[in-house]
Amino acid sequence: MSKKTVRFGIIGLGLMGREFASNAARWNHLIDQPLQPEIVAICDTNPALFSWYADSLASIAQQTTDYRQLLGNPHVEAVFCAVPHHLHEEIYCAILQAGKHLMGEKPFGIDRQANARILQAVQENPDCFVRCTSEFPFIPAVQRICDRLQAGQFGRIIEANAGFLHSSDLDPNKPINWKRRIETNGEYGCMGDLGMHVCHVPFRAGWQITNVRAVLSNIVRERPDKNGNRVPCETWDNATLLCEARENTAAADTFPLTLKMQRIAPGEKNTWYLEISGTRGAVRFSTKNPKLLKTLDYNGAEQAWQSIDMGNETAYPTHTGAIFEFGFSDSILQMWAAFMAELSGTKPLKPFARCVTPQETAMSHALFTAALRSQQEQQTIRLD
Ligand SMILES: NC(=O)c1ccc[n+]([C@@H]2O[C@H](COP(=O)([O-])OP(=O)(O)OC[C@H]3O[C@@H](n4cnc5c(N)ncnc54)[C@H](O)[C@@H]3O)[C@@H](O)[C@H]2O)c1
Repeated sequence: MSKKTVRFGIIGLGLMGREFASNAARWNHLIDQPLQPEIVAICDTNPALFSWYADSLASIAQQTTDYRQLLGNPHVEAVFCAVPHHLHEEIYCAILQAGKHLMGEKPFGIDRQANARILQAVQENPDCFVRCTSEFPFIPAVQRICDRLQAGQFGRIIEANAGFLHSSDLDPNKPINWKRRIETNGEYGCMGDLGMHVCHVPFRAGWQITNVRAVLSNIVRERPDKNGNRVPCETWDNATLLCEARENTAAADTFPLTLKMQRIAPGEKNTWYLEISGTRGAVRFSTKNPKLLKTLDYNGAEQAWQSIDMGNETAYPTHTGAIFEFGFSDSILQMWAAFMAELSGTKPLKPFARCVTPQETAMSHALFTAALRSQQEQQTIRLD
């Protein structure tokens, strides 16, 4: 199949900017993609970051420290924006007003008001295709769980647990950075940082959260700054959200849904997990054992857990055979394949093999805002 090129600009050349650039550089790893990204422009306030991109991508014709110049470039059709949270509203709105398609990083606005203004800009620019990042659902084992969800194989859901656990902040001497400051990361703390990853599958499954009781913890309250002075570290490190959820708006019954986001979880490096129990089946998956999918089917006979050794059975086919291992950067490639496939209008795409929509980011903001209130008032908060 011949591929049409979509010319991209990247704003924010840090960790996630590099993940996109390196995956765009190996786009031919995907089979039968209708579109391919070409990175033609890059922007960061730190020009020291330009050389890695320019050295690895010959297509880059513009390097700038001012995002407005990149948005004024008529060759740029789409933008990946990966900047600190306090800049999402300003830059995402400017991208849309410039008529460019947008892949924006989560949480898609530092707070609910910022998110609402971004969604307003999305509405005002209907020709722009807009999605938010979240890569874990593209792991083959998670896609397999989602196939079961779509086929209704769980029966009535009894309980579900989803979480994302880190230990990167366990060291109290790790210097503070923008992700640990309220003014740049937001009041949500770890929920803004990790929460969309945890919510993507529950939201896409159509589960309606009716109320939340949150327990939020600030464990390390001071960190050194770049000069070695100890300064306040006020963001929430860990969050446990006990939610009551319905399988859909019409369902009368509710089930407990526990969402955990932790930046201080000893022994966990980057553990994303999902567990669902229903009257006809159950599943367990964690990136701690990324090949292992545990499933249980209950049909009145023996209740037996099966261990499935998952390989590279991806939603978007690649040149890697199905028996080989799948990794983090493969999930980023799959997420980008989903963005490009949906941008091209390719149909039908599996519902769970699509990126987070702006409306789903609004749902996450409603939840995290309610969780902040729950913590403050020590109460269960209803979600409208
Ligand atoms: N999807 C994921 O798995 C994942 C992982 C980490 C971070 N993120 C998200 O990605 C976003 C960026 O995080 P990161 O880890 O890449 O951060 P980072 O600090 O590594 O990179 C952010 C970059 O933005 C640049 N920047 C700051 N102000 C700017 C401006 N006005 N114009 C242009 N560039 C500017 C900084 O110089 C920096 O290079 C955040 O929204 C974060 O939540 C997503």
